[in-house]
Amino acid sequence: MELPNDNIREVLAAQAHIWHHTFNYINSMSLKCAIQLGIPDIIHSHGQAMTLSDLVDALPIDNNTKTLDYIFRLMRILIHAGFFNQIKVNNKEEEEGGYILTPTSCLLLKDDPLSQVPFVQMELDPYFMDPWHSLSKWIMKGDESSTTPFAFGHGKPLFEYAEKEPKYNSLFNKAMASDSRLVINVVIEHCKGVFEGLKSLVDVGGGTGTVAKAIADALPEINCIVFDLPHVIEGCEASKNLSYVTGDMFESVPSADAMLLKWILHDWSDEDCIKILKKCKEAIPSKENGGKVIIIDMVLMDRNLEKGEKKSYETQLFFDMLMMVHVSGKERNQQDWAKLFVNAGFSDYHIIPTLGLRSIIEVFP
Ligand SMILES: C[S@@+](CC[C@H](N)C(=O)[O-])C[C@H]1O[C@@H](n2cnc3c(N)ncnc32)[C@H](O)[C@@H]1O
Repeated sequence: MELPNDNIREVLAAQAHIWHHTFNYINSMSLKCAIQLGIPDIIHSHGQAMTLSDLVDALPIDNNTKTLDYIFRLMRILIHAGFFNQIKVNNKEEEEGGYILTPTSCLLLKDDPLSQVPFVQMELDPYFMDPWHSLSKWIMKGDESSTTPFAFGHGKPLFEYAEKEPKYNSLFNKAMASDSRLVINVVIEHCKGVFEGLKSLVDVGGGTGTVAKAIADALPEINCIVFDLPHVIEGCEASKNLSYVTGDMFESVPSADAMLLKWILHDWSDEDCIKILKKCKEAIPSKENGGKVIIIDMVLMDRNLEKGEKKSYETQLFFDMLMMVHVSGKERNQQDWAKLFVNAGFSDYHIIPTLGLRSIIEVFP
């Protein structure tokens, strides 16, 4: 192909754009490497800006010119990605840069109550990444294939796979719990009103109970029930106003004033969501008597994005693809949600867009 002169810049920019997307995974892998090496915790424990040499000394590796170079380059890309910062420190009369944490890497400290490390560990585990390599094959197989690339690659859908593989069950449940700890903190701090007047609540597909536990502690007048599959809640301990019930949400859910569905409906097709929502409707009182479903999930942003929203929208689209590859779900825009609620027999809904990329949606019978 001959390149006309005025087109050269465009072609080179197009090539660079392809490179950028081809190598997007390097951001993820560099992040994974830093977590595996424990770099955020090491810098945190140091208590002040940490020089490259001090950082390499603290790692379980030899401090030599090669390792100094590897860690320098790893830190450089992670600084660029916003995970660390560098400030000047005076070290033995020489001035050099010292690494410090940013608000993002503060969420990567292993023992921080809001740590997101288990979520990153799960999503970047080869078992959860392998199905991406089968996406095109799975799409080409059409309706006759397994329900998801995950099932196509691993022989079973994710939730059934977790039941048979304790290691992945634990990895998955810990990942969910790490997200739940963060989000329920925000909900209780800023949106406690959604629980006002409730005497009972079922966290449907509530995992190991992180969200329900936090609600039960903050609002002792609410009797909370965690409802999930047996292999998930096995060994979880009940307390005064918190109990665990096993079952299948496609069959029935325990009755209460409100049903909570956090990160449940995005796992499922429209048909399955309608089934789940109908079961929830059967289990709550009328709107006049305070019945409602509380959903915590994404509402896909409008494509007429405001300045600065491009990255948020892209992250929502990442989740949408993730829901196709790992489970049989999708992310939904406001119209998609409204259709589900009408088809499941609900009369009204209200979106509270205060959870960053996610929202709280109150749905009334
Ligand atoms: C994406 S996780 C969300 C967990 C929790 N709500 C959270 O956000 O941390 C989905 C949950 O639904 C549960 N689940 C899947 N199928 C279910 C079923 N048929 N009945 C009850 N729970 C189910 C899974 O075991 C898992 O805990």
